[in-house]
Amino acid sequence: MSNLGKLIINADVNKGTINRNLYGHFAEHLGRCIYEGIWVGHDSPIPNTEGMRNDVIEALRVLRIPVLRWPGGCFADAYLWKDGVGPDEQRKKVVNVHWGGVVENNHFGTHEFLRLCELIDTEPYIAGNVGSGTVREMAEWVEYITFEGESPMTEWRKTNGREEPWSLKYFGIGNENWGCGGNMRPEYYSDLYRHYSSYVRNYGANKIFKIACGPNTADYNWTEVLMRESGSLMDGLSLHYYTTQTGEWNNKGPATGFDEQLWFQTFKQTIYMDELIERHDAIMSKYDPQKKVALMVDEWGTWYDVEPGTNPGFLYQQNTLRDALVAAVNLNIFHKHNDRVQMANIAQLVNVLQAVILTEGNRMLLTPTYHIFDMFKVHQGAERIDLVLESPRYEMNGESIEQISASASVDEGGTMHISLCNLHHADSAELRCELRGTKAGAVAGKILQASSLDAHNTFDEPEQVTPADFQDFRQEDGIWVIKLPAASVVVLSVQ
Ligand code: AHR
Repeated sequence: MSNLGKLIINADVNKGTINRNLYGHFAEHLGRCIYEGIWVGHDSPIPNTEGMRNDVIEALRVLRIPVLRWPGGCFADAYLWKDGVGPDEQRKKVVNVHWGGVVENNHFGTHEFLRLCELIDTEPYIAGNVGSGTVREMAEWVEYITFEGESPMTEWRKTNGREEPWSLKYFGIGNENWGCGGNMRPEYYSDLYRHYSSYVRNYGANKIFKIACGPNTADYNWTEVLMRESGSLMDGLSLHYYTTQTGEWNNKGPATGFDEQLWFQTFKQTIYMDELIERHDAIMSKYDPQKKVALMVDEWGTWYDVEPGTNPGFLYQQNTLRDALVAAVNLNIFHKHNDRVQMANIAQLVNVLQAVILTEGNRMLLTPTYHIFDMFKVHQGAERIDLVLESPRYEMNGESIEQISASASVDEGGTMHISLCNLHHADSAELRCELRGTKAGAVAGKILQASSLDAHNTFDEPEQVTPADFQDFRQEDGIWVIKLPAASVVVLSVQ
């Protein structure tokens, strides 16, 4: 069955820039994200650059990742950065208390992370330790990284092989301090935010963008208290929201082998992001009507049961066509809120949760989510343009959501990109699209679709889900008629 929808694109109505940082990522010392996924060590038989695997670096460079958050996550509020600098043999072996209780040998530390950022050409975003670290440790970390002059920290940095300071813009004052980062009440954390952030200094020309720990999902009181008590002292407030297919943490369900109902429920859960942003934004606007404080969705993505037989503390899950659509829908939602949301970081980069890359020994594969970030990167830094969408409803067991998600932007070179997503598991959609305010006419497209809802790439068959050229559009009396297959994502370029 094919359902009818209507899309009007007002190419001459500019809705502001889509911050590149909405395409950010997150890498934590968790499971096989850092170790194995990125860091294999200098002596590894896996081809590497200064200990970091070349295949992963190459694949990440293609995505033009704007910003990478590290070292956690919950790990951040247990992390003592001084354990992770200096000669390897002197680095402390500690226990990773949050994630599987495994040994953390600290071989990947500050220098390695900042080198990774150089290699993949991305901005670093460091999350500091409020939960179990001191104000002094946090202050010294920023000094170690960014100070040019003479001080014990800069001398130490030089001894460890780095003469020049790095530039560091994004710094988080803690992570999930309402939970794994100290189980704090917002009033208490708010005071700690004021305290710790005062010591996160700007050295020379380096200007830090300070990000406060924001709410968990719909904890609107947290946002209220933080904005009221310390909104004037922050540049950004984070928001964490994960998509579980059932909405229940103790019953997350499998990453593959799900039915149509779980497919539908996943999208119902994921589009809740729209409401969350809207409501947190409304509270922020009470204290900051000019939207100077950015909302940073610095953890988002799908969270399923771990793959059978893998360490439950490692959060390793497969990534299917469904994840690709989840990514596409969320990116469209972030675009829509580009006046408040200035960064988003999908969790996590490699081998953890909704990863863009999976590795096994010396093998690597690109997940369906990777392909969405690749197809959508044309929106990075582009000007969002107005659109009016009349979507058919997607119904399941008495509930319904919009079948189509859409977003449009114009890049520096004047090319318009329209990203469309058909969430229906079985029905295609015929979209009648009117382009107003432009003379553009030549259209080209890419599509991501697959033979089954849980289609995914494996190490033996890494190309089960990959983008293809899309040509199912035609012009009828000045209207573009676009046929979106069920469960697909399309990105059109219009010139
Ligand atoms: O991404 C996994 C975990 O989810 C992070 O460590 C934590 O911040 C969140 O609860």
